[in-house]
Amino acid sequence: MSVDWRVQLYQSVGSTQSLVHEASHAGAAEGYVIQALMQETGKGRHGNQWESPIGNLYMSALLRPDCAVQRAGELGFVIVVALSAALDDYIDQTKHIKKLKWPNDILIDGLKVCGILLESNLHKNELESVVVGMGMNIFKAPDLAVALNDIAQEPVYVNKVRDNILDKLSYYYSLWQEKGFAPIREAWLNQAHGVDEPMTARLPTISHKGIFKGIDERGALIL
Ligand code: BTN
Repeated sequence: MSVDWRVQLYQSVGSTQSLVHEASHAGAAEGYVIQALMQETGKGRHGNQWESPIGNLYMSALLRPDCAVQRAGELGFVIVVALSAALDDYIDQTKHIKKLKWPNDILIDGLKVCGILLESNLHKNELESVVVGMGMNIFKAPDLAVALNDIAQEPVYVNKVRDNILDKLSYYYSLWQEKGFAPIREAWLNQAHGVDEPMTARLPTISHKGIFKGIDERGALIL
């Protein structure tokens, strides 16, 4: 079943993520999306700020997966695989190398092209909703990152990229709901960066060093 996306577009907001959390608490149905042309206080992972100048894609989408809380982490891989499939429509992979870096980064020629922030809302230990924040560098990229327009085969348009991402997200989210995590895991591992290489896993309160061996059947890191 495909997701019924309903996109609300704003010129400028604090953070699309905060607005979709508010909508979730107010009872919005799955598929509610807020996009902004710029954000004043964009949120990144680990409490970092996400620079959000005009020209890039900033959106947060509300999902209400019918699954145990323990499976919420699988969704990060669903989102990355969907974004990666969307990027395939713009990038010539004979000229550029696209890789997925644990936990949920997409690198093109080793540079970050987008960021994903997944935040769950629980009620009495049940998963009530997941807010999926996606920021894609389309026309502007900070240092050590890349903008899609600079490497795409043809000029890209923010709202077309948005619609493409939402189509792919609907496809992979349905696949996950119908077939489980296995096909998502396989798609992710096929594109994984740095397998059998040293890595540092940065968790919210601690870091672990080791050799990256992939992810297991439930999406846990194998180090
Ligand atoms: C990361 O740190 O890699 C994740 C960045 C996520 C940024 C997006 S932009 C749209 C949404 N709104 C936010 O405030 N953050 C996410």
